[in-house]
Amino acid sequence: KHSRVPLIAGNWKMNLDHLQAIATVQKLAWTLKDANHDFDAKGAEVAVFPPFTDLRSVQTLVSADKLDVVYGAQDVSEHDSGAYTGEISGAFLKALECTYVIIGHSERRTLHGETDEQLARKVAAAIRHGLVPVLCVGETAEDLEQHGPSAVPVAQLRAALEGLSGSPEIVVAYEPVWAIGSGQAATPEQAEQVAVKLRETLAELFGQETADATRILYGGSVKANNIASLMREPNVDGALVGGASLDVAEFASIARFQK
Ligand code: G3P
Repeated sequence: KHSRVPLIAGNWKMNLDHLQAIATVQKLAWTLKDANHDFDAKGAEVAVFPPFTDLRSVQTLVSADKLDVVYGAQDVSEHDSGAYTGEISGAFLKALECTYVIIGHSERRTLHGETDEQLARKVAAAIRHGLVPVLCVGETAEDLEQHGPSAVPVAQLRAALEGLSGSPEIVVAYEPVWAIGSGQAATPEQAEQVAVKLRETLAELFGQETADATRILYGGSVKANNIASLMREPNVDGALVGGASLDVAEFASIARFQK
């Protein structure tokens, strides 16, 4: 399926302090290396999203040991610097060699009241600092009932990206809110159906070439036992994994899924 390199991303949420992060990333890198012996080709790109306070430790470890793991933050300020107590600038994340930043996770939308307008500014800030936004979109169970599967995620995508021009490098994560932490993942068919609509929207906004180059991840109760069937769908290019990313063995086997 296309030339998109699959991305398996672990969103740790507010779990694992910097000492636990070091142990986890080290173990993950070793487990992936071992698993790699069984594969001819290199598998997916593997990314972790630790809490902000872990990032410096993760950077030190990854660069010192040249680990085959990339990382990013779970949020970013829309501002670059100044009187914004508690906020973290994209410039600081770039200085820690973050590749990615998650923007608009449903927990931030609902628990922290982040709006589409604010998320658009955060996406712009990430790009301004050379970070790749992992933009999360997804409908609640209620949205699903009222508007069908793709209306809300497509509207969220549009609202966050409309202001961008050219061929921005972004990653989209489709995370149905009803599937997050519920143990009830979307079916591969459901994930594919929405991914197709999201890609069509990307094509409208940025042209077909950019749309074809953009990775669309699925997130919501991804485990080692459902990743392969999700990845068989032509428009699902990876996963954003929550709970299962805290278990190194489980996360490594998700990352080394057999197609
Ligand atoms: O960002 C990933 C997350 O929201 C999915 O969580 O625990 O259902 O894999 P989980």
